[in-house]
Amino acid sequence: MKKNDTTIVILAAGKGTRMKSSLPKVLHEAAGRPLLGHVVEISKAVDPSGIVVVVAPSMDDVAEYAQSLGDFVQTCVQASPKGTGDAARSALELVPSDPGTVVFFNGDTALIEPETIKAMCDACSAGAAVTVLGFEAADPTNYGRLVCDAGGAPLRIVEEKDASAEERKLTLCNGGAMAIAREHFHDLLGSLSESPASGEYYITELPELARAKGLRCAAIVRPEAEIFGVDSREDLAFAESVLQGKLRKKFLNNGVTLREPQSVYFCMDTEIGRDVVIEPQVVFGPGVSIGDNVTIKAFSHLEGASVGEGCSVGPFARLRPGTVLGEGAKIGNFVETKKASIEAGAKVSHLTYIGDARVGADANIGAGTITCNYDGFNKHFTDIGAGAFVGSNSSLVAPVKVGDGAYVGSGSVVTRDVEADALAVARGQQAEKPGWAARFRKAQQARKAKKD
Ligand code: UD1
Repeated sequence: MKKNDTTIVILAAGKGTRMKSSLPKVLHEAAGRPLLGHVVEISKAVDPSGIVVVVAPSMDDVAEYAQSLGDFVQTCVQASPKGTGDAARSALELVPSDPGTVVFFNGDTALIEPETIKAMCDACSAGAAVTVLGFEAADPTNYGRLVCDAGGAPLRIVEEKDASAEERKLTLCNGGAMAIAREHFHDLLGSLSESPASGEYYITELPELARAKGLRCAAIVRPEAEIFGVDSREDLAFAESVLQGKLRKKFLNNGVTLREPQSVYFCMDTEIGRDVVIEPQVVFGPGVSIGDNVTIKAFSHLEGASVGEGCSVGPFARLRPGTVLGEGAKIGNFVETKKASIEAGAKVSHLTYIGDARVGADANIGAGTITCNYDGFNKHFTDIGAGAFVGSNSSLVAPVKVGDGAYVGSGSVVTRDVEADALAVARGQQAEKPGWAARFRKAQQARKAKKD
């Protein structure tokens, strides 16, 4: 027996025209992850033996993204957009016909819970040939209505345009996900009929077909908010707000203090330790991990960064991809870092850019220091040793190395390596003219008096 013998087929070949975008709908992101990524993660939580994503021929980008999510994710192409039933059929070859369940759901239902999919599979294991996911719609307009028998088992699904006046009054709707016992799958899909009006095939015909063959159908009913599919930018914003709410709750429950939860933005892959304090207006882009006992001060923006235990970041800090902060490091206001390893106890407190660089343990970088990492063609590395002290307003022109314990005088433009424990001063010599200022003032005042 393979895992729990479930194959999940994600329908993602639709155009998603209401997004008004050149990007396929399922690649639009919420909480730092494309909608398709959410749906695949949800599918993985069900522990299926296979996941199949159905894409349109023009969707190489969707197929590529799907394949990047793991070897067990396969893609198949629906040659032309001939309806949800046709999309399901295009996955036929990738769905085994041995006992088990195949679940179909839409690539835009990013809020569905894995438990819901499991419940649908359980209903099939308990004898239903087809299990439909339903919901009570606040406004059922444009949804397929679920027509059930007295016992609540689906008889058929009727789309808005085909529904009678009585059927339109039904508020129990088709959520777009369906589980089918695999032994009936190939036969049932093969029996789908072409709609005379549109020439399309609809997966929604399956309950009726199953009943006609004397097979049992079941429905699992879940709240509308869970089954919600993203069709427009407004829907995307709603999905985002739900996901952010879930993430904030998760972190609050895991020992993270959020001073103003609703102003902090997380990504699905954000990792945060315990006793972390996050001040208002902080953005966690993709790929951020935060150790224990860290404080992230207000208005900081982090992405692709790893922050070690006991660090302090911000306010107004920007940690870009490739930033690694060692234990107890400090990044202060208006500091930007990129591909930078700031080792344990190092301090970069104000107004600084550290890019393509290492700052050794306990080094101190003065205000206004810039690593000049780019010559217009290539990026170069700056290596600052442990315990080094770089004076304020210094430019370190990479490639360059400042040795352990070395000092760089304020205002220096360092173009050559500095030896360990040396002092490098690379700036104009100070010249001084005694009494010059007094003479200057006197002359100016005299000129002004003559004019008046
Ligand atoms: C569908 C259901 C409707 C249900 C609603 C819930 C049908 C006929 N109707 O309507 O009963 O209430 O979902 O949201 O199924 N797709 C393809 N290839 C196609 C057509 C669609 O892959 O040729 C995919 C789309 O990318 C989408 C999903 O199937 O992920 C649903 O298609 P869509 O056209 O949006 O169906 P609805 O009109 O929403």
